Amino acid sequence: MRVAIPKEITDAENRVALVPALVADLTRLGCTVLFENGAGAGACYPDELYQNVTFYSDPAKLYQDADIVLKVEAPFEEEVAQFKENTIVIGLLSGYRFPERIAALSRRNITSFAMELVPRISRAQSMDALSSQATIVGYKAVLIAANMTNRFFPMLTTAAGTIRPSEVLVIGAGVAGLQAIATAKRLGAIVKAYDIRTAAREQIESLGAKMINIDVQAEGAGGYARELTDDEKQKQQTVLLEAISRSQAIISTALIPGKPAPKIITTAMVEAMAPGSVIVDCAAIAGGNCELTQPDKTISHQGILINGPTNIPSMVAKDASNMYAKNLTNFLALLVKDGKLNIDWQDEILSQSVLTHQNEIKHQPTRNLIAGAS
Ligand code: NAI
Repeated sequence: MRVAIPKEITDAENRVALVPALVADLTRLGCTVLFENGAGAGACYPDELYQNVTFYSDPAKLYQDADIVLKVEAPFEEEVAQFKENTIVIGLLSGYRFPERIAALSRRNITSFAMELVPRISRAQSMDALSSQATIVGYKAVLIAANMTNRFFPMLTTAAGTIRPSEVLVIGAGVAGLQAIATAKRLGAIVKAYDIRTAAREQIESLGAKMINIDVQAEGAGGYARELTDDEKQKQQTVLLEAISRSQAIISTALIPGKPAPKIITTAMVEAMAPGSVIVDCAAIAGGNCELTQPDKTISHQGILINGPTNIPSMVAKDASNMYAKNLTNFLALLVKDGKLNIDWQDEILSQSVLTHQNEIKHQPTRNLIAGAS
């Protein structure tokens, strides 16, 4: 099997799908690695560090020689046009964001697997790219907030007086939120957190943060959150207003799979914060948890800064690539045995993560989205 690693073509993406230390993992599977010049540069992995790979300067030639393509983002339609039929593509394909690219993969008879659809069962933990990348999001979001605010996070007792610690509020305590709590605690802030899943309480408290209690339980299918009713939203807003007005920094990470992010922070709530406070809205890519969030911008509203990053993992490209590439190589080991393709469609990891196969869009929500658009 010839496995190709192209350079990501958007400037906003610094990650790479294979890091030098993992070339040997692919070789052990019996694969040869084809690598586009400069593909690792954004993650500070120059070509010299990639040993035992064949370099290509022309992506069209790379794709002609490839049996499997490892990607970070969904390939653009012009990339898909260069793939051979029956190529296998694996990446964070985000069907709901790029339906036209997924339709192109299907038309070209490409078998594609979406890493974000890998089921969260124990056996697939080492392939859980959603979690590995969310860990980065939670960590970095706190550093962004600490950098932007006009306050210290820790308490300081100095000859120039005592500085009170900042209060940090984390909204949504999934993987990203829990990492944000841990990072803000390490920086010495007083941390409160809120999630609508009751199961989150124990995890929030085990990290030393206080759970904000709102009498709403919204556990949905598969351990994920469900959308709130209007009454529940009202209740949530009343309790959160008080916590938000006391916070110098908010990290919001609340998401509902396959839906726009819930709008939790209203303009009135933002206005209740002190000038110089910061909101880092990690849900910006799904529309944001704050009414005022603008993707990839920092806006100031009455002196409160609202930052809406849409690709935080790319800002920590080296470790994000290390983790993502490990997820990918573990996934690839399910597809390739002794250098040959060996797909067991009974394996739920593969049957749930396949997005396109034999000219069909296999993932129903993506299929419905594309059918609705055409
Ligand atoms: P996510 O990225 O889908 O959402 C982030 C958080 O936002 C979730 O905790 C969710 O409950 C919360 N949220 C949604 N709407 C909200 C609202 N209106 N107000 C407040 N919070 C809201 O979540 P993530 O990180 O992907 O985790 C989702 C589930 O998957 C959790 O149950 C987690 O424990 C589970 N999981 C399981 C893993 C495994 O290997 N078994 C690995 C990682 C996560």
